[in-house]
Amino acid sequence: MEEDIEICHCMEVNKSVIIKAIKEKGLKTVEDVQDETTAGTGCGGCIPDIENILKKINQQ
Ligand code: FES
Repeated sequence: MEEDIEICHCMEVNKSVIIKAIKEKGLKTVEDVQDETTAGTGCGGCIPDIENILKKINQQ
């Protein structure tokens, strides 16, 4: 397991929370992650990071 870092500073959402939500709920888009975790709903600065996480998981 990679180190757990805070991806979304606005909403204080950690990487592990985002990964778990994507895997458990089968999330496919940034909007899905926003609805599910609130990550990415503040300044939007973490959206590229969320996209990267989505890409990585959904490639597997
Ligand atoms: S850091 Fe995630 S919305 Fe601002």
